[in-house]
Amino acid sequence: MVTVSTTGSLAGRHVLVTGGAKGIGEGIVRGALLRGAQVTCCDIDGPGGRALSEQLRAEHGAQVPLLFAQTDVTDFAQVTAAVAAGVAAFGPVLGLVNNAGRNSYADPVAMTEQEWDDFFDLDLKSTWLMCKAVLPLMRAAGTGSIVQIASVHARMTYPNYFPYAAAKSGLVGLTRNLALDEGRHGIRVNAVSPGYTLTPMLRDYFRREPAAEQQALAVHPLGVFAEPRDIANVVCFLLSDEARFVTGADWLVDGGLTARFAG
Ligand SMILES: NC(=O)c1ccc[n+]([C@@H]2O[C@H](COP(=O)([O-])OP(=O)(O)OC[C@H]3O[C@@H](n4cnc5c(N)ncnc54)[C@H](O)[C@@H]3O)[C@@H](O)[C@H]2O)c1
Repeated sequence: MVTVSTTGSLAGRHVLVTGGAKGIGEGIVRGALLRGAQVTCCDIDGPGGRALSEQLRAEHGAQVPLLFAQTDVTDFAQVTAAVAAGVAAFGPVLGLVNNAGRNSYADPVAMTEQEWDDFFDLDLKSTWLMCKAVLPLMRAAGTGSIVQIASVHARMTYPNYFPYAAAKSGLVGLTRNLALDEGRHGIRVNAVSPGYTLTPMLRDYFRREPAAEQQALAVHPLGVFAEPRDIANVVCFLLSDEARFVTGADWLVDGGLTARFAG
């Protein structure tokens, strides 16, 4: 439950969030609304996105500044259509959060080229496609903030997780370069790298595997996992003017997990 603000750190700013129908993306949609943003939520899951919109309208009233655009972010025509719909509703997109993504466990010999391409279309290429569609609006405005949701797996990883580790590392590289290239237009570009975050999928997994949950908790210095709002709080800071001197950075939000030497 959030109260929509008209005076928060994102007041009046149009923020577009990909993969916003559930999980971390839903947390970011809620966090941006809480801080006064006008939000375009893009997700491939039409029923899920419409259900969240209805829920937010029930919580905040019909005037909540939220547009849901059913979008496959791997398809540039759908990306440009979603951005155009958002602009028609709320004006230029000045905050962009590239959050849509999924896991990929694979064997490097068994994985097919099609599986590789499908995965990288979502976990890496879609972020460039969104930036390609939104950067002209930000350049014209002379301001903007982009946040990519990467992962601790850009720095350390599991066995057989190489596509995910490669895509998330790629997102951090993309972030650095866009920060260099777009700074002269007043545009900041950062990554946020979450650790274990309690999305519905992770909660289900831990319900089935309580021993895995205890093992993971034991190596977290704070002894807890993140809630989606913990990631959203950092994302919303980076979207806001309070972060005006922060660009080209990758913000770890992992409860100290990667501070531990494994040996
Ligand atoms: N949950 C974690 O512990 C964790 C940790 C580190 C990084 N991440 C990253 O955070 C992001 C969100 O993860 P999550 O756990 O909330 O996932 P999730 O599966 O709960 O949500 C992902 C959302 O993306 C949407 N989506 C999938 N394919 C899409 C497409 N082609 N076009 C548009 N939308 C699409 C899904 O419908 C869903 O609503 C991902 O990039 C993930 O890699 C998650």
